[in-house]
Amino acid sequence: MNAPRLIQIGADDADAVHAELIAGLAAARPAVPPKFFYDALGSRLFAAITELPEYYPTRTEAAILREHLAAIAAAVGPAPTLVDLGAGNCEKAARLFEALAVRRYVAVDIAAEYLLSALDRLQYQHPDMELLGVGLDFSSALALPEVVGPGPRLLFYPGSSIGNFSPDAALAFLRRMHAACAGGRLLIGVDLVKPRDVLEAAYDDALGVTAAFNRNLLARLNRLIGADFVLADWRHVAFHDAARSRIEMHLEAARDVTVRWSGGERHFTRGERIHTENSYKWRLDDFADLLVAAGFRPPRAWRDPRDWFAVFAAEA
Ligand code: AVI
Repeated sequence: MNAPRLIQIGADDADAVHAELIAGLAAARPAVPPKFFYDALGSRLFAAITELPEYYPTRTEAAILREHLAAIAAAVGPAPTLVDLGAGNCEKAARLFEALAVRRYVAVDIAAEYLLSALDRLQYQHPDMELLGVGLDFSSALALPEVVGPGPRLLFYPGSSIGNFSPDAALAFLRRMHAACAGGRLLIGVDLVKPRDVLEAAYDDALGVTAAFNRNLLARLNRLIGADFVLADWRHVAFHDAARSRIEMHLEAARDVTVRWSGGERHFTRGERIHTENSYKWRLDDFADLLVAAGFRPPRAWRDPRDWFAVFAAEA
């Protein structure tokens, strides 16, 4: 049996992380980038979100991939090297292995520790496959290591994680993906515009898992910058902004609080918010245009019967 390998690329040094977080907290409109959600517990909470009845994207995307697997495989396969961006528990990509004749699986994720446990499990199911984990914050740079090997790659970017970028940043990121899969293809999942009530329930579930996912960010800030956030002082807020076609998530101070961290502090008045995430919802044609603007050929797309989610395949 092979054994998975893990490489860590350019892990942010503690000073840079500290500076980025403090700049965000001290800003006129306080914000923390959503990449900080994904420590080991945050990754597990996100996996729990994907099981919630209200959170339709994961199961809708899985149904599209299952339903149209033959057509998708004909459009993108075979894919000897599959590069999975934001691999998480690696389950989505693993469902494609057989149809796409994958031989080398490269799982890229910011949460390297969580990734390795997922790859260990996967290796038991695919003892002969070459599994490589890459711990990388690919949101700012997509430098895939040499070990990924030459030859055409299929980049897999499921789950509508592209929705966590603003449209301008999404275009820039798609351009980087285009460069990273020259001669290959991109398979990408995108959440589509839909009614407000469906969207708001998906980001504010009855069980409170999304609220826990959001608040866990504060526990992480306490560790990373020595802050003293009291989690119970902060309320999860999620709402749809139709004009921007996005869900916004915030943490709102439930009372007046002063938060201290190493080297500074900030007073938050009751109702003041820390912006933690945007999740953009796209129109099908607009996203196809975005792919072309990023340098891809006109894509093919598959949708579910409600038109809630789309999977695009595009040639670089
Ligand atoms: C990872 N990303 C696509 C999720 C989303 O739907 O924007 C993150 C998430 N935030 C709250 N629920 C899920």
